[in-house]
Amino acid sequence: MKIAIGCDHAGVELKNGILPVLKELSIIYEDVGPYKEISVDYPDFGEKVSEMVSKGEVERGILICGTGIGMSIVANKFPGVRAALCHEEYSAEMSRLHNDANILVLPGRIIGKEKAAAIVKAWFSTSFEGGRHQKRLDKIRTIEERLICR
Ligand code: RB5
Repeated sequence: MKIAIGCDHAGVELKNGILPVLKELSIIYEDVGPYKEISVDYPDFGEKVSEMVSKGEVERGILICGTGIGMSIVANKFPGVRAALCHEEYSAEMSRLHNDANILVLPGRIIGKEKAAAIVKAWFSTSFEGGRHQKRLDKIRTIEERLICR
């Protein structure tokens, strides 16, 4: 699987902590940056990753900012993106099972490297359940199409 990963200055440390976990899981990633803890604006990096997922250039994405809230707001503006902000493994699992989340958002100033690794592992090892949940995702798509046509 190929993914894109990005953050803002508040997520650089956690991003660096996650990259070895992705390698361990044999996930190919494109790190869109930033690579240093210099002040940047989260919408710029959120846009890069979300655009790649929305266009199907990568299957999934990971975004990290201080709280994860800014990145979630940005990512969920993109058609076809279902971004889930997760602080623990249960939400990560459910976001795959029920929501087929394709972007995992992590809060860099709230959780540590170990918790993030556990969340990432849970998220990548869980498949979408389909069935009644597919019908709900279809409804989200219908809403998106209506808004885009406005
Ligand atoms: C940056 O200071 C901070 O606002 C950002 O990382 C994020 O938490 C925004 O939602």
